[in-house]
Amino acid sequence: MPETCTITINGATRQVARGTTVAVALLLAEQPSRISVTGEGRAALCGMGTCFECRAVVNGILHRRTCQILCEQAMTVETSR
Ligand code: FES
Repeated sequence: MPETCTITINGATRQVARGTTVAVALLLAEQPSRISVTGEGRAALCGMGTCFECRAVVNGILHRRTCQILCEQAMTVETSR
């Protein structure tokens, strides 16, 4: 099994280590997980699934908590609006 996987974050291809959470992949890519109603970029805060600050669109599914999801080959991640 390869030690890395390729994912797409906001249209850009990224290589990440297997076992990396989507939240960490977003941070490494310097991308917000979502944009707040006041227009601010938001990112993971608690890292354990309780704050919901890390919500993003993962494989087309809205409001996924990215701190709870491991990156998989060919996964797509988009910043939520
Ligand atoms: S960082 Fe708090 S729920 Fe994901």
